[in-house]
Amino acid sequence: MTSQDLRQKYLDFFKNRNHVVISSSSLIPENDPTVLFTTAGMHPLVPYLMGQKHPSGTRLVDAQKCIRTGDIEEVGDVTHHTFFEMMGNWSLGDYFKTESINYSWKFLTGSEGLGLDKNRIAVSVFEGDDDAPFDAEAYKLWSDIFTANGLSVERIAKLPKKNNWWGPAGVTGPCGPDTEIFYWTGEATQVPGSFNDDNDSWVEIWNNVFMQYNKNEAGEFEPLAQQNVDTGLGLERVLAVINGLSDNYQTDLFAGLIKKIEELSGHQYGETPEATRAMRIIADHLKAAAFIIGDDRGVTPSNSDQGYVVRRLIRRAIRYGRQLGITQDLWIKEIAIIAISEYQSIYPEFKKNEAFILDNLDKEEGKFNRTLEKGLLEFNKLSAGGISGEEAFNLYQSYGFPLEITEELAKEKGVAVDRAGFQAELKKHQDLSRTASAGRFKGGLADSGEETTKLHTTAHLLLAALRRVLGDHVTQKGSNITAERLRLDFAHPDKMTPDQIKQVEDLVNGAIVSDFQVICEELSLDEAKKRGAMGVFDSKYGEKVKVYTVCHAEHQAGVTPENLVAAFSQEICGGPHVENTGILGHFSIQKEEASSAGVRRIKAVLTK
Ligand code: SER
Repeated sequence: MTSQDLRQKYLDFFKNRNHVVISSSSLIPENDPTVLFTTAGMHPLVPYLMGQKHPSGTRLVDAQKCIRTGDIEEVGDVTHHTFFEMMGNWSLGDYFKTESINYSWKFLTGSEGLGLDKNRIAVSVFEGDDDAPFDAEAYKLWSDIFTANGLSVERIAKLPKKNNWWGPAGVTGPCGPDTEIFYWTGEATQVPGSFNDDNDSWVEIWNNVFMQYNKNEAGEFEPLAQQNVDTGLGLERVLAVINGLSDNYQTDLFAGLIKKIEELSGHQYGETPEATRAMRIIADHLKAAAFIIGDDRGVTPSNSDQGYVVRRLIRRAIRYGRQLGITQDLWIKEIAIIAISEYQSIYPEFKKNEAFILDNLDKEEGKFNRTLEKGLLEFNKLSAGGISGEEAFNLYQSYGFPLEITEELAKEKGVAVDRAGFQAELKKHQDLSRTASAGRFKGGLADSGEETTKLHTTAHLLLAALRRVLGDHVTQKGSNITAERLRLDFAHPDKMTPDQIKQVEDLVNGAIVSDFQVICEELSLDEAKKRGAMGVFDSKYGEKVKVYTVCHAEHQAGVTPENLVAAFSQEICGGPHVENTGILGHFSIQKEEASSAGVRRIKAVLTK
């Protein structure tokens, strides 16, 4: 089965059960300063799991682009990826355990789905603890299914929270017991009678989370107003499993990339363990980097936040390419070109942003190539007795070696790096904002605190003001909001003049004192487009979107197309926002600087 077939089969299966297919959200979370990337399908849906109404209804299905950076170092084995796709079906206060479990069984084993061998399937359910009881309902549902299909209930394991509980994604938020579904990848004749967590031949293929609790700030699990289902099926892994492959990199999701790396390097996948590992790392990292840069909220390589992750991925791939003997100059874009051609029909933004992706890859490669050779010489000079913090910092500062690359090189040599010393050096050289961002690597969902919400609405005002002052070529390239400040990246070729900055500030403050209304509507993409709303228009499924409009109070009574044309700002956005701009306070721009080629960055604050 091809990846296209699998994706489509999944979407169709649930579409036929009244689910609305929705497009993948951005890889860069829109309203969540505490995480760098979308790490699971549930992430963009958190507001709806918490009770907000989703414009497409209560039954959804999607394939979500995800990035996980927690174990970049693990990439190189058969299953770890930085970029992956998570298929999910969602009930937002609609169906619960009965349908969820029966749908999964039917999709996995039925002819409309994957038609897998029933005898290779086992499941686990939550055994219960002080926070929540044993999931007797899930157990009963599975035991009915297993019994009806002649399978032993010994295949239903009862496991603790560590195994069978999902969420919250951050410190607080929606969570609940889950049931995991495993597939036996060993010999068909040797399927064990019961599920055993320690046996690697049992591969988890699907996770159905029954989100019925909210973990609050006191650490208590309070029942959610609505009962939700969040399921996650990792496309790469399931594709490998159903094709009888133990190595995800042998599926069509990687084959084209690996082939190109073979061509460039003159080596074969599988030739030596080192070559295989290097090829996996290169394929994974460059695909991930291309997806992040090519996202509609795309990020370019830099030394902070998401940009640092992109930089690290690219530089690590380049180093492995060098190790593999790739000598061609500016080769990494070749891998991205293949990835783009393979994924373009699924993620239209990837193709749309192709030139931007390739340009940024070239630039980053050029930059790193200029210092890599010298940096490696320097490293070899230093490494004999271990690397001090200062030396690691010098490799970072002068030769562009992310700390993790220095650590990896040191590990290969069997010497240590003084990580704490490096961090201390870095701190000396960094401004406060970047230091604060380190906390974000830990992950977690932000509360939509009042200050963040205010700054989020302010970001809409700012974008609208920039377009009025600088022109319609200004589009948003990224944003990041904390409780203290907002940051907006936007397309514009030149440094702003002091006068332009003043004009933008005045426009935003004018909108604030006008006490505009912020109206939320649910529109089809076409309607939103016709209105001239800003935002991401890529959708293959014609789903509805939320449009936030900032306009005069009198418009609220009767929102007509005419008065909305006169609105101060209109953007497609998930929210949340304030209801009136009057409460925002005083707006000022603190910094205007280059972010990357053709992209400027503004940092701004609200004061009382
Ligand atoms: N949230 C669960 C996961 O990420 C199921 O989608 O595994």
